Amino acid sequence: MKKILVTGGLGFIGSHTVVELQNRGFQVVIIDNLSNSKRDVLDRITEITTVTPEFHQLDLRNRKDICTFFDKNKIAGVIHFAAYKAVGESVHQPLDYYENNITSLVYLLQEMKTRNIDNFIFSSSCTVYGQAEELPITEDAPVKPAESPYGNTKQIGEEIIAESCEAYGIKAIALRYFNPIGAHDSIKIGELPLGIPQNLIPYITQTAAGIRKELSIYGNDYPTPDGTAIRDYIHVVDLAKAHIAALERLLGNKNQTPFEFFNVGTGIGASVLEVVACFEKVSRQKLPYTIVERRTGDITAAYADTNKANKELDWKAEKTLEEALLSAWKWQQTQ
Ligand code: UFG
Repeated sequence: MKKILVTGGLGFIGSHTVVELQNRGFQVVIIDNLSNSKRDVLDRITEITTVTPEFHQLDLRNRKDICTFFDKNKIAGVIHFAAYKAVGESVHQPLDYYENNITSLVYLLQEMKTRNIDNFIFSSSCTVYGQAEELPITEDAPVKPAESPYGNTKQIGEEIIAESCEAYGIKAIALRYFNPIGAHDSIKIGELPLGIPQNLIPYITQTAAGIRKELSIYGNDYPTPDGTAIRDYIHVVDLAKAHIAALERLLGNKNQTPFEFFNVGTGIGASVLEVVACFEKVSRQKLPYTIVERRTGDITAAYADTNKANKELDWKAEKTLEEALLSAWKWQQTQ
C-alpha cells in the first residue's frame, strides 16, 4: 500500500481528499498544525472510512521536525494543502503569507529532493489568471500579476515547483481550483470558517442559520447578465477526486512533462444572485440580502474550461450546484 503524505489534511479540502484516498486504498499520513482546523476531523474521517489516518501535529516551517518525520516515514507522494488562504488578510499580513506558504513549500521540496520522493500535488488557484480575457478559462490563458499576497504565493509556488521539477527530477501537478464549496455526503466533514466568513457560501449558510443578519452582495453593476459577479463553484468531493486522479497520473508515470497544471472546476459559471436563488430553492427559505459596493480585488467572471482535466486526468465534476449548496446547508445545520 502506497503511503501518501497529506499536509493540511484536517482542513476543508484536505479532509475530503483524505477520505477519497482511503476509499481508494491508499495509506494516509497527515501533517497539520491545527492553525485552521480541528483534531476532531480525524474522528469524522474514521467514521466515514472506518480507517484512522496517521496524524502528526507539526508545523512545516519547523525544518527539524519535518526532517525527522521523513526519516521515520517512507512516503510515495505528497499532496500539499497546508497554507494560509484568506485573500483579504494576506493584504494586511503579507509577510505571514510569504513566510508560511513559501517556507513550508520549499522545505517539503527539499526533503523530497534529498530522499528521491518524486510525486507532488500542489493546491493552486484560478486566481493566477486574474480577470482572464477569454471565458471559459483554459490553461493557456496567461498568468496575470497577482492581486494579493495570497495569490502571489500560489504563482510563486508554481514557479518554485516548476524549477524544482526541472532541476531535481521531481514530478508535480498543480491543480488550479475554482471555487470549492459543499460538504461530504455523510455531512460529517465540511468547511469550518474561522470568525466571519469571507467566502460566499459559508456567509449564505450562516445567514440562513440566523448567525448573520443578511448577506451583503458585493456589487450588481458588473458587466454580467444580472450585474453580479460570476464564479465556477465546484463541490469539494469532486475536487478531492481530482487529487486522486492527479496522484494516480504521477504514480503511473502518465504525466507528459515533469510539471503540469490543470484547471479544476465544473465549467459552469453562476452569478451571486443565481447562487442565492439556488440556495433559496434547496433550503426552502428566503435569504435576506442587500446590494453593497464592489469588494476591492474582485473580478467580474471566472469559470473553467475543463477539457484538459477531463481528457488528461480522466476526471470530470459530477455534482451540481444544487447538490453542493444542499450539502453546505445540511452541514451548517449540524454546527
Ligand atoms: N461575495 C459576496 N458577498 C460575500 C462574499 C462573497 O457578494 O459576503 C461574492 C464575491 O464578491 C464574489 C463571489 O461572491 O463575486 C465569490 O466570492 P468568494 O469570496 O466566495 O470567492 P472568490 O471568488 O472571491 O475567491 C475564491 C477563493 C480564493 C481564490 C479565488 C480565486 O476564496 O482563495 O477564488 O479567484 F483566490
